[in-house]
Amino acid sequence: DSIKIFAPATVANVACGFDIFGFAVDAPGDEVIVRKRTDKQIVITQITGDEGKLTYDISKNTVSVPILKYLQYTQISEGFDIELHKKMPLGSGLGSSSASSVAGVFAVNELLGKPLVSKDLLPFSMEGERVACGSAHADNVAPALLGGFVVVRSYNPLDVFKVPTPSELFVTIVHPDIEVNTKDARHILRNEVSMKNTIAQMGNVAGMIAGLMQADYQLIANSMIDFIIEPVRAILIPEFFEVKNAALDAGALGCSISGAGPSIFAFSKGLETAEKVGIAMKSSFEKVGIIANAYVSGI
Ligand code: HSE
Repeated sequence: DSIKIFAPATVANVACGFDIFGFAVDAPGDEVIVRKRTDKQIVITQITGDEGKLTYDISKNTVSVPILKYLQYTQISEGFDIELHKKMPLGSGLGSSSASSVAGVFAVNELLGKPLVSKDLLPFSMEGERVACGSAHADNVAPALLGGFVVVRSYNPLDVFKVPTPSELFVTIVHPDIEVNTKDARHILRNEVSMKNTIAQMGNVAGMIAGLMQADYQLIANSMIDFIIEPVRAILIPEFFEVKNAALDAGALGCSISGAGPSIFAFSKGLETAEKVGIAMKSSFEKVGIIANAYVSGI
């Protein structure tokens, strides 16, 4: 009576879609092993890959909070042992907390014979996000749960849908060895947005979705501009504009911050270009002594 579940890293915002766009990558991701217990307790038995940073307190860890909410909602009283194996960097802008949240509640739902369909696990997974950074946004958890490119059309009521992506679209993600706290990165944002920026951003949001659905790479490229969030958050990432320019010079369609950062992602047409872009971005960080890892994935 045990199960092992993998949940992938995700890129949220995708340039123009703050809190509403996100997509899953093939790797890296988190692994969670859940076992039924004979009593009714929920216990985190092991955490690896977190450099000792995560808590074993089940009311505070993003892997267990969604499980507690789920059991409360379904009124199922069962006990579980949870092993959490972090296989991606924490505080990286790759949806690390979301991957754990999704993997945990998904595993429990499977072990219980799937009382809920996957999509219905979303509100519980979002509670893990609330614990991690004080805000229950869904743009990492939804793609981690459903896969592919996901739009959060509405938060209240919650409404998410998937968008098909063209086969030659690849993402390069470069993770510099610095930490950005998501709570802080949300705190510095302005509450008001100008009419001019709203209009420009809406045009790009529409362009991105049409570009993905029609496999129009030029339209995707043209739409990868963020007038609202990136200009404010760029200061949190040293060398952001140098790395972005390196990606564009190497042939990327566009480049922006992954989630709240510090990871930076770029879209490319074709795997070969995506790999070249990764080398260029990584060496741009390394020029100033910042160690960086590059990942390339289909979408
Ligand atoms: N949309 C979120 C943000 C994703 O940018 O703050 C990070 O968790």
